Amino acid sequence: MLKVNRNYQKLPGSYLFSDIAKKVAAYQEKNKDADIIRLGIGDVTRPLTPSVIAALHKATDEMADEKTFHGYAPDLGYDFLRQAIAEKAYRSRGCDIAPDEIFVSDGAKSDSGNIQELFSEDAKVAVTDPVYPVYVDSNAMSGRLGDFDSATGKWTRLTYLPCTAENSFVPELPKEEVDIIYLCLPNNPTGTTLKKTELKEWVDYANRTGALIIYDAAYEAYISEDDVCHSIFEIEGARECALEIRSFSKNAGFTGVRLGYTVIPKDLTRDGVKLHQMWARRHGTKFNGAPYIIQRAGEAVYSDAGLKEVQETVGYYMKNATVIREGLLDAGYSVYGGVNAPYIWLKTPDKMTSWDFFDYLLTEKNIVGTPGSGFGPSGEGYFRLTAFGTYENTLRALERIKK
Ligand code: MLT
Repeated sequence: MLKVNRNYQKLPGSYLFSDIAKKVAAYQEKNKDADIIRLGIGDVTRPLTPSVIAALHKATDEMADEKTFHGYAPDLGYDFLRQAIAEKAYRSRGCDIAPDEIFVSDGAKSDSGNIQELFSEDAKVAVTDPVYPVYVDSNAMSGRLGDFDSATGKWTRLTYLPCTAENSFVPELPKEEVDIIYLCLPNNPTGTTLKKTELKEWVDYANRTGALIIYDAAYEAYISEDDVCHSIFEIEGARECALEIRSFSKNAGFTGVRLGYTVIPKDLTRDGVKLHQMWARRHGTKFNGAPYIIQRAGEAVYSDAGLKEVQETVGYYMKNATVIREGLLDAGYSVYGGVNAPYIWLKTPDKMTSWDFFDYLLTEKNIVGTPGSGFGPSGEGYFRLTAFGTYENTLRALERIKK
């Protein structure tokens, strides 16, 4: 008889943001006139920018002519895009990354969920806690995390590295031996980040112990402080211990367009095998390349005009972040993040649980946010608001909260 992958049965509930969407839909169904402001999932609201739209139109027209039509894309990405990324995202920051170390994909979520396929079932994983749920769920699906203990809200074979106000959201190096460490910086969900010197400690630790760092830099465009790395490859020694995942969603508004990439240095080896070769093999087998039209749009993001537009978009969302931060501080909340990231992380008032605060905000203020406990046990008692809403809605939401 066919047996299914029982690891799926161990997953608690559904994916965090699907759970929230269902709750909000149920509330809206019962309260049809409720004017709900959504500051929950980190989905963007600004439209695609003129450079991107022009590239999309041009590439679409090319597809209509047999002389310029494109069929299957190269599975690892078009050279024009890999060149643009290597030059503009890495070499311009002094990072020694070659175009053929860049694997173009349909988004950072796919890459961060799929990358764990390269590692054995008994690899020991560590995550910062709270954490983007994709890292945990995808490893749990592969049976790497043991069982979920609902009493503690923890997986039995997962190492949690708490990031709370008590340690200023700076995780301690693991006390036990781990093989894979996920770092998302600037961080989703806390909106905080590490300084260069702090990140260097992680690179040194990984090189000392043989651990691999999976570095998610989806929010690097939001960095405003100088002593923060945009890429882990700014740190000496990172090519030997880290791979990096990036997205076009949060900087260029591609959440509905889908494009991302993973950088794997050719010298990154584990267990005697080059991870670059493994990922190339996996991509070649399971992925037929991101669409030509979308890769042209991605190339436009790195044009001079495109980069300027990204800055404007980021500026728009960071103005929202300031409205949220300052509004919450005025209202007496303890607030974190929102300086190098589009997320604001707050302590729930009166020791409310994260979900109680979610219900309170939804029903009393008609505002949707994300309960911190949905990101892991150390998120309990915290709550996330996103700066990706419209400016007008962000102002309205804060007015409602302050009342
Ligand atoms: C989030 O809200 O955490 C993100 O939008 C989710 C994602 O990027 O997949």
